[in-house]
Amino acid sequence: MAKGLSVVILAAGKGTRMRSALPKVLHELAGKPLVEHVIDAARVLGAADVHVVFGHGGELVKQRLAHCQVEWVLQEPQHGTGHAVAQALPGIPDDHRVLVLYGDVPLISTGDIAPMVNADDVGVLTVELADPGAYGRIVRDELGRVRAIVEFKDANSAQRAIREINTGIIAANAKELKDWVGRLRNDNAQAEYYLTDVIAMAVADGREVNAYPAASEYDVAGINDRVQLADLERAYQRRFANALMTAGVTIRDPSRIDVRGTLTCGQDCEIDINTMFEGRVVIGDNVRIGPNNVIRNAVIGDGVEIRANCVLEDCEIGAGAIIGPFARLRPETVLADHVHIGNFVEIKKSTIASGSKVNHLTYIGDTTMGSRVNIGAGTITCNYDGANKHRTIIGDDVFVGSDTQLVAPVTIGDGTTIGAGSTIVRDTPQNKLTLSRAKQVTIDNWKRPVKKPKT
Ligand code: UD1
Ligand code: CA
Repeated sequence: MAKGLSVVILAAGKGTRMRSALPKVLHELAGKPLVEHVIDAARVLGAADVHVVFGHGGELVKQRLAHCQVEWVLQEPQHGTGHAVAQALPGIPDDHRVLVLYGDVPLISTGDIAPMVNADDVGVLTVELADPGAYGRIVRDELGRVRAIVEFKDANSAQRAIREINTGIIAANAKELKDWVGRLRNDNAQAEYYLTDVIAMAVADGREVNAYPAASEYDVAGINDRVQLADLERAYQRRFANALMTAGVTIRDPSRIDVRGTLTCGQDCEIDINTMFEGRVVIGDNVRIGPNNVIRNAVIGDGVEIRANCVLEDCEIGAGAIIGPFARLRPETVLADHVHIGNFVEIKKSTIASGSKVNHLTYIGDTTMGSRVNIGAGTITCNYDGANKHRTIIGDDVFVGSDTQLVAPVTIGDGTTIGAGSTIVRDTPQNKLTLSRAKQVTIDNWKRPVKKPKT
């Protein structure tokens, strides 16, 4: 048996039909470059090393995937899939199993390919298609044994009638593969070195060749243009939604949810239409998410209600909190349990303790707020002096009247009441009323101005 697994990901093709300046494999599905889905699958399979064969737009691909630990293999010019694999093979130990994946087949299922990886044969992942199009055809003998793969362009009409096709995904032992790939020739319709010719060579050498069935067409669907990209995106999202529903989440319309990252939900959550989850989102039990929200990197406690049209990013929300409608939580917002954040409220880099309410038209930034605070409509923490940011500290049981500015740095003592319309520039003492309002006067003999008559 092989000592380790080496994965070769073919990603050198131009991707002409995307009609894009961006290399095809960098186009995103579920918020992640196509080829990164494939690299992740290789990791799940336990690959000891991953070799990405790149060509067109190579430098950009390397830059964008700098965080992925892979070996970069340049294929320039591109003379076919066999030629591509040949570039990577020198870097692979003879005693490894080699798995060839495609950078533009993003939804490859590790369940489908694990059996190929664990075998000692030559394995080809295949699927039967109602319309086998221009794919390579799997040629079997009368005993049903795989004998060869014939490319569409080289196939005769009987072969073209075969509906079992080559997905392109192949596994073999490294030493043998090196031998076969080294002997490939390009005397075919496309003058390319076909990786698929390895199959007939293996058969000629008396090796066991097996076809492994893919569970679904989507698992092996390649992306060549943006229509296919969109189709596969929806297929991915639908599967994700199905998995959530199976796990006990109510989704009002599974065709109107987008998860671009990971989403974990507790029991009995409800997700209404058009919400986008990005990055890593973790949701507790009994959470209700209204329509039209964007939620990125958030931890949301049990029983939280996110009402319609909120944008939440890099934040934590405690149990029983109510957010929105129309609220914006910016990075480093930490809300304790039962906090209420209402409409047209923006919170940034602030901690708000249990039971506090900021319900209308307010900006809270760089603030530490205590428990049971009530912030009136139109309150602003003036955290920026034009050069530096300053913090506002608000104690417990504070009541801030409407239309107040808290000019940071400033500390509002526990139990403070601030009169409406105040501009607070100095710390306020505990349990007192503080206000900074000009005294109201009434001018008895004042008259409204009148329009001058036209001359
Ligand atoms: C290949 C298979 C075909 C199979 C089909 C599945 C061969 C000869 N044919 O077709 O049997 O049904 O895939 O999609 O293998 N690539 C490189 N360097 C190259 C050429 C291709 O890296 O020189 C990469 C492409 O980026 C792509 C993959 O290999 O990810 C497949 O290339 P493509 O041209 O789409 O496939 P075909 O050769 O037409
Ligand atoms: Ca193709």
